[in-house]
This record gives sequence, structure tokens and C-alpha cells, in this order.
Amino acid sequence: MNPIINILNKDKLSKEDIVQLLSLTEKDEIEIIRQKAIETMLQYTGDKINLRGLIEFSNICRCNCFYCGIRENNENIDRYILSKAEILQQAILSARLGFGSIVLQSGEMQNERFAGFVADIIRRIKNETTSRKLPDGLGITLCCGEQKEDVYQEWFDAGAHRYLLRIESSNKELFSKLHPDEQTYESRIESLKKLKNIGYQTGTGVIIGIPRQSLEQLTSDVLFFKNMDVDMIGMGPYIPHHDTPMDFYIEEWEQRKEEIFKMSLKMIAVTRIFLKDVNIASTTALESISQYGREAGLQFGANVLMPMMTPTNRRESYKLYENKKLEDYISKDIHAFQIKMYDNYERIVNFEDWGDAPHYFNK
Ligand code: 5AD
Repeated sequence: MNPIINILNKDKLSKEDIVQLLSLTEKDEIEIIRQKAIETMLQYTGDKINLRGLIEFSNICRCNCFYCGIRENNENIDRYILSKAEILQQAILSARLGFGSIVLQSGEMQNERFAGFVADIIRRIKNETTSRKLPDGLGITLCCGEQKEDVYQEWFDAGAHRYLLRIESSNKELFSKLHPDEQTYESRIESLKKLKNIGYQTGTGVIIGIPRQSLEQLTSDVLFFKNMDVDMIGMGPYIPHHDTPMDFYIEEWEQRKEEIFKMSLKMIAVTRIFLKDVNIASTTALESISQYGREAGLQFGANVLMPMMTPTNRRESYKLYENKKLEDYISKDIHAFQIKMYDNYERIVNFEDWGDAPHYFNK
């Protein structure tokens, strides 16, 4: 039998199996992995594409991640925080478009005022979006970095029920190459544990295609997702940004970007096959390399999509990476997208539903 099929038929993949799957480059071999991922997805999370309107409500950040365009030391962007009225408006629009959930994403700010601001906006969104179709209002996922436990608790009590905090790389050495000394691997892990203890559906993820990142490190990332027992995964390709200390990598990256894109899709597929019942997002960064990159992610086993709902006039200022699209054809015409997904892939766009990860309830 084909050795790849042999691996895929195992109940549980070993570390060596994952390395082997991620190292495949032949088209027909990748197609076998893709099909297995889709089969696993259909069995464990179904054919639905779960929507979260993505509202990037502030780019003010205390961190200096070496890869990120909104790092504190980048003085070439306008800093903003949306008003509560603006956030509320985008949330209500998301609900009216039929999205069951939103993601509130921002740079990391650690102060009481910010904590209170976020708690208040969560409560207002919940109040204003509760309806017959959404009896508990919009589902709210937060992505606001590392916070003290009582802040995470305050936001949970206000009504947020999912939280995304990427580990960026589960390899401690690589993590420290990507972040200044003040930002530690240990503190990131502590935050993930706090979130899980509070009861959030918790998500993490990594960046794929970092300079000198090895296959073994990517494999450890997949094992890390499993060991941390997370409910959601959001990961995507590294895209350099010229206003960051990692701008030295731009030329080499240009040569490698197709490979990095393919690796991102393989990571989605292998994560689906290995973790089974988690939610996996097809992330925006995929589209900075390939026009319909997020559709490819969905075809490799992702089941979550985050149409851009940031007000158009702020999108320019939320460029975490180069070539981030300012227009989103999906949020612009979600019904055209719905028909396309069904016609082309028999996938159902899931409206008016939170679209939680089955894993959270299967534990
Ligand atoms: N390329 C790809 N992803 C990036 N992120 C930040 N900067 C980049 C970049 N240059 C990702 C990080 C972060 C998420 C919100 O965006 O993984 O967690």
C-alpha cells in the first residue's frame, strides 16, 4: 500500500509521521492528505463554514514582536482605537448580515481603562444583538493579548466566551528570536492556562514560514496544540513587513512564498487529521500570498472564516503584515460567497449560529 495512506490509516500519528506528512511536496501526495483532512472534518465538525466578523478595534500595542507591523516602535502608522459606537455599529452590521459571532481583536494594552472599555463594549454588543435568531446575542471571541487573570475573568463575565492567543512558535528558542526579552514563552503559556481555567473556549496558533523554522519545529507546534488541549487553532503564513526588524528576510521570502503557502495548507490539514474536533480558521494572511487563499484553507480542513468587518477607513492602519487586503470580497457579498461555496465544494455557510468547536463539549 502507498506509505502515505498507511500513515493516514493509523489511529494516532507519531511525531515521525507528522514530519513525514509535512515534508511531502508532490501534488498527488498532498491531495491524499487534503482528502483525509476533509473526511476528518466532515466526520467531526461537519460541512459548515462558521463565520466570525473580524473587528480590529485598536492598533495601540505595548509589544514589540519582531515580525509585526503594529509593534509599538513602528512610528509609521496612525494609532487608533474605535469608539464604542463604532464597534457597536460593526457588531450590529455583522449580526444583520447573519454572522453568528464576531472577533474583537486589538493590540495588547494592559490597563484598567482598557479592561473596563472592553468589558463595557462586550455587554453592549450582547444587549444590542440579542434577538429571536440569536437568543444569547452574538458569540464573542476576544484576541487582545496577555492580560491578568481578573481581566480575563471580567471579560468572560461580561459575555465573551472564546479567546485567541497564539503561541506564535511552540519552540522556546524560536519564540525568543521573535520577541524581545520582556515577552516570555512562560508568560504566554500561563495566559493560555488562565483562559482555559476560566472556561473560555481557547485558541492558539503559530506563524508558518519564519526564517530558519524547521519541519521538526512545525511538527512540535501540532503536538503542542494537542498537549495544550485547545479548542481552536488560527495559524497562517509569515508575511514580512518592511517596518519591522525582520525586513532583512523580504528577498528570501519572495523566493519561498509559494512553498510557505503550501506548508500553511499542509499544517491546516495535518492539524485537522491529528486534532479532529477543533475549530480551525482559514486566516486572512493566506490571501496575502494567493488570491483565494482562504478558500484553499477551507479545502484543506479549516471550518472557520473571519470576514473583515473593521471599518474601511481604519484598515490601512491595521497592517500586521505587508500586502494585507483592504477589501474583503467575502464580507462585501456573503451571499455570493455562500452560493460559491455550495456550488464548488458542497460546503454550507453557517448563518445565525455561534459555531462553537465540538472539542470544548467533547472533553
Ligand atoms: N505575518 C504573519 N502573521 C503575523 N501576525 C502578526 N504579524 C504577522 C506577520 N508579519 C499574526 C500573529 C498574531 C496575529 C494576530 O497576527 O500570529 O498573533
